[in-house]
Amino acid sequence: MKPILSLILAFLAVSLSLLPACGDGSKKKYKIGVAQCSGDYWREKTNLDLRTELLNHPDVQLDFRNADNSSARQQEDVRYFINNGYDLIILAPNESEPLVGVVKEAKAKGIPVVTFDRRIDSDDFTAHMEVDNFALGKAAAKYASSIGKNHLNVVEVRGPKSASPAQLRHDGFMEGVKEDPNIRVLASVFGEWDDARSERLLDSLIQIYPDIDLVFAHTDHMALGASRALKRHGLNDVVTVGIDGFPEPGLKGVTDGNLTATFLYPTEGERLLRIALSILKGEPYERITRVSPLSPIDASNADILLSQDTLLNEKTSKITLLNEKIANQLMRYNSQ
Ligand code: FRU
Repeated sequence: MKPILSLILAFLAVSLSLLPACGDGSKKKYKIGVAQCSGDYWREKTNLDLRTELLNHPDVQLDFRNADNSSARQQEDVRYFINNGYDLIILAPNESEPLVGVVKEAKAKGIPVVTFDRRIDSDDFTAHMEVDNFALGKAAAKYASSIGKNHLNVVEVRGPKSASPAQLRHDGFMEGVKEDPNIRVLASVFGEWDDARSERLLDSLIQIYPDIDLVFAHTDHMALGASRALKRHGLNDVVTVGIDGFPEPGLKGVTDGNLTATFLYPTEGERLLRIALSILKGEPYERITRVSPLSPIDASNADILLSQDTLLNEKTSKITLLNEKIANQLMRYNSQ
């Protein structure tokens, strides 16, 4: 059987098993609140992964909140879930320290909290899933070494110190750099996840260091901000390396020649929901899950990944359409 056909059949089977539960508006067994720190591509994709996995669990209700990079707002989001009968909270802590208190409050009320992507500064979480950010930083340093230039002058554009992935990416990068005496870090500055800020920082740094060879930024957004500044100053040969590897802006940045390389920062939202459900059902689960990073994506493979993504999106929307048609038919059938 063709893979796409089996995918459609599997999807239909899931849809059919779901419909009676959706149709009669039956009460869900578990309510899970997802507190996202922001609402960018990476977050949207994680939410999509979670919704996809939800198709297999018709007895679960998932509700999402987006704190727009504000820890104060995220504290309110978590409290909303605590006070409104949620059975479990999935949390991407905007910063490590400010979320400690609300996680403690949830724990005191017996509500499990699964943190992901970013860490909190306490042990009160029930489970945690993250990508190995230290290894990502180290891989970026290895990529810099692989360029093979004598005396490589590097600038690092970091995420905020208060967010664990940024600190770990920095630590890993510095450890990698230490292993290569050829690399000289000219400056390590805080771009705070913001591409415009990264662009401004590079504008100033270029005045002080006109001989930059490579910029490693903690996200593709920031790497592209840096790239805009470099290009404006005619510095077209500077290597720019980012993290995230999403079709937009990362992969597109590589195929357009604005970014030299990126590292995929996988979302794995399906796995996240499965961990949450194991906790709720009293089944065994890994308390800490650490996903290993993959090889860099550059001009040699970015176009293949981009076209695969386009194909996958086309197939997904066809399947979604088919699913809606079946839902309508069954609704009509049920009401007759
Ligand atoms: C998305 C994001 C990514 C980054 C991650 C780190 O919100 O900023 O771009 O890799 O968070 O937590």
